[in-house]
Amino acid sequence: MVLPLRLIPRLAAAARLPRAPRPISCRKTLAPALAMAAAYSTGTGADRRLLFRQLFEKESSTYTYLLADVADPDKPAVLIDPVDRTVDRDLNLIKELGLKLVYAMNTHVHADHVTGTGLIKTKLPGVKSVISRASGAKADHFVDHGDKIHFGNLFLEVRATPGHTAGCVTYITGDGDGQPLPRMAFTGDTLIIRACGRTDFQGGSADLLYQSVHSQIFTLPKDTLLYPAHDYKGFTVSTVEEEVAYNARLTKDKETFKTIMDNLNLSYPKMIDVAVPANLVCGIQDPPPKI
Ligand SMILES: [Fe+2]
Repeated sequence: MVLPLRLIPRLAAAARLPRAPRPISCRKTLAPALAMAAAYSTGTGADRRLLFRQLFEKESSTYTYLLADVADPDKPAVLIDPVDRTVDRDLNLIKELGLKLVYAMNTHVHADHVTGTGLIKTKLPGVKSVISRASGAKADHFVDHGDKIHFGNLFLEVRATPGHTAGCVTYITGDGDGQPLPRMAFTGDTLIIRACGRTDFQGGSADLLYQSVHSQIFTLPKDTLLYPAHDYKGFTVSTVEEEVAYNARLTKDKETFKTIMDNLNLSYPKMIDVAVPANLVCGIQDPPPKI
């Protein structure tokens, strides 16, 4: 039986701006080893429905994340931040695992690689692309702060986390019965392990990024697993508790943070002139008509 897969409309139409910080849950903290076991569940346990894979693209050091509800007969799946170069690898894995990809999503308009969403849509025409409305990019579905993206009985919550770009969002696994514990947050470039994305182009703002992280990410339960869009040092995952304690930039007060960001002296990204125009149309949003 094919169950309806849907993108739930906004929870609150007026929710254009991030909500006030939520209190940190008093949920019992899982031991790190147990937390990782839950996150990498293959869905074989009676109470485990999430299949999760972290995939890496080495040229741009990008992580792509695959999540699926393997307790649903259709095994519906989503890909977060796919890269054009690794689309065949990702789709082959999805086929081998017997999953049905429904959404190819981006956390933001990337400047360092071309998204795989357009290419995926040419290979699997039923897949819908997803990006934030605030990104200004083309996609099949636009999301806003507070939206929920459902795949089977699992969902991702959308939080607006602007600062690296004006349209950055963080996707967070659902809060409620039957949803994975600990929660998992896919932070894009808003928060990178022990660091954060640059804020000097694409509508970036150090002030906004600091606010986004402190109001939308650091307020999550401390055992929440943080998965960034990139890593350049070999890290794969962090937690809210770790980043609150050890993030080299975001543990500082806002003025110190802004000074740090103003003095990074980073070079112009070599892919930006190719990647940003392409990613504004989701890689290749509309396949050319066949003659
Ligand atoms: Fe980025």
